[in-house]
Amino acid sequence: MSYYKIENLEQYFKHYNKSIREPRKFWGKIAEENFTWYQQWEKVVDFNMAEAEVKWFTDAKVNITKNCIDRHLSKRGEKTAIIFEPNDPSEDALHITYNELYETVSKMANVLREQGVRKGDRVCIYLPMIPELAVSVLACARIGAIHSVVFAGFSASAVSARINDCESKMVITSDGGYRGNKTIDLKGIVDEALETCPSVERVLVAKRTKTDVKMKEGRDIWLEPLLEAALDNSVAEIMDAEDPLFILYTSGSTGKPKGMVHTTAGYMVYTAYTFKNVFSHEENDIFWCTADIGWITGHSYILYGPLLNGGTTVIFEGVPSYPDFSRFWEIIEKHKITQFYTAPTAIRSLAKESLDYIQKYPLKSLKVIGSVGEPINEEAWHWFNDHVGDKRCPVVDTWWQTETGGIMISPIAFVTPTKPTYATLPLPGIQPVLMDEKRNEIEGNQVVGSLCIKFPWPGIARTIWNNHERYKETYFSSFPGKYFTGDGALRDEVGYYRITGRVDDVVIVSGHNLGTAPIEDAINEHPAVAESAIVGVPHDIKGNALYGYVILKETGEVRNKENLSKEINQYIADHIGPIAKLDKIQFVSGLPKTRSGKIMRRILRKIAEGDFSNFGDTSTLLNPEVVEQIMKERIS
Ligand code: WT7
Repeated sequence: MSYYKIENLEQYFKHYNKSIREPRKFWGKIAEENFTWYQQWEKVVDFNMAEAEVKWFTDAKVNITKNCIDRHLSKRGEKTAIIFEPNDPSEDALHITYNELYETVSKMANVLREQGVRKGDRVCIYLPMIPELAVSVLACARIGAIHSVVFAGFSASAVSARINDCESKMVITSDGGYRGNKTIDLKGIVDEALETCPSVERVLVAKRTKTDVKMKEGRDIWLEPLLEAALDNSVAEIMDAEDPLFILYTSGSTGKPKGMVHTTAGYMVYTAYTFKNVFSHEENDIFWCTADIGWITGHSYILYGPLLNGGTTVIFEGVPSYPDFSRFWEIIEKHKITQFYTAPTAIRSLAKESLDYIQKYPLKSLKVIGSVGEPINEEAWHWFNDHVGDKRCPVVDTWWQTETGGIMISPIAFVTPTKPTYATLPLPGIQPVLMDEKRNEIEGNQVVGSLCIKFPWPGIARTIWNNHERYKETYFSSFPGKYFTGDGALRDEVGYYRITGRVDDVVIVSGHNLGTAPIEDAINEHPAVAESAIVGVPHDIKGNALYGYVILKETGEVRNKENLSKEINQYIADHIGPIAKLDKIQFVSGLPKTRSGKIMRRILRKIAEGDFSNFGDTSTLLNPEVVEQIMKERIS
């Protein structure tokens, strides 16, 4: 009996129970039957949750690109691996076959080697959504270099912080990038970032916008001629199961971004398995995930998951609103997309436009539609189900995180009955628990609590780059022996999970996970600012918007609030990126604090929402007069 594919609900329960009772047998069998290994493992899993140590498939040898590409060549060489849909619909789409992917990735791998990149070196990839991005990621994996993809919307200082944290040796970028009617000067941003990045020896520059860029002698090289000259076959590096595959930065509630480290074999097995099941992937499907490869969703479900299954995956360069709001639907029709995976914020922004945009397109090719990134509200769920899925495609509301590597709690298409706003049931191997404030597990159904996972799964991130202590502290200390997700959840009467949102100081804006602390740090750099506090407030389209309370250094009247607000937002854009800009800024004379000096964010959140009714326990509040003042001057 194979465990790779779940066919019905009864089988789901069977597999689930097996995965809990005998996780080693369950994952061992999946790993053995569905992947190519150079050498088998000693142990399927080895872990110590208290020390935050997890290893899967110990001592096995493998290369993920052999599994993503080489092993498909005999059967699927001429099959399309990647469809590239450009920003401008009048430009032709590209169809890259598995044979072509093999050749290009080999060329790129050879280029990287020639340019001095070795196994274990970090390579920062700062590219728009063009084929070179996929090729660069896979080429790194081919030679055992650790890719660190930085989303091309991040600012120079965010890029530089990410390069320096893991000491990337190389940056792969492009002259520019297209996004809707905008052109983004990526090379210029890299140049600025690299002023403070001593580790970078080489910058490879792909051509996309053909804009004039400065090339720094001895450092920058155009990619194209190197690729042309390179050999189109390559030997894959033999990797240990636990060798790092990539680093991906995610915002924390405090301090600098966390470089989450994912390793090779466990991540491979987990993304392949979850992709196959959640989306019910079949041979001739055309899978489209609208995320950017700069986020984990793109890593796992644009690249690795689909390619590991020999699937066809779409890379879309543009945005849902360009040239108009029918772009997504036009693409689905054009490429006969079978699975469409997007985010609640995109759904909400398209749902507010005229139905004419979507009703022109029958969308009959669709089989499964999915959502990820934040809780999906009931209205958006129904709009998605009614107008995109035509009430005939299962909606998979997939809950997971950068840290989890792959989908954790989600319906399995055609297997799990869906329920609006519910991520439903844990996938096999996943043991969620809800915890109360006293750190006790809450048993039974119809309960709410902090969501933890009590047993390791193959896709879990292994550490934070160069900071295992922080990893342990962030994820394994709140509830000893368990992985704490930072999310709250409820479990309904049948055991379905609904994720209610973050319980820490992370706010999800348009699907982007933003820590409040780094934003506050950026604001506080403004010379006029003394202190600040950021909270999230519900927003119809973005899910959450950011509301900032700012104390200025000078006392007395603030003269030009509008200019100051603009400047503050510019500071945020420069330090983090435009995605983290504040919707509203209220200048205040003080912040509600406890006697021990902690900002009472709960109160600030309530005020920002306009709810002055119940601030909870305020017995430790030091300065009630400040609260009165803030309420009076709230910006609505
Ligand atoms: C946080 C992780 C991995 C997906 C992209 C975001 C929230 C994610 C859902 C969902 C409710 C969700 C959680 C989680 N989230 N998916 N289906 N329902 N909330 O990855 O940036 O690491 O953010 O996104 O709060 O902790 P990320």
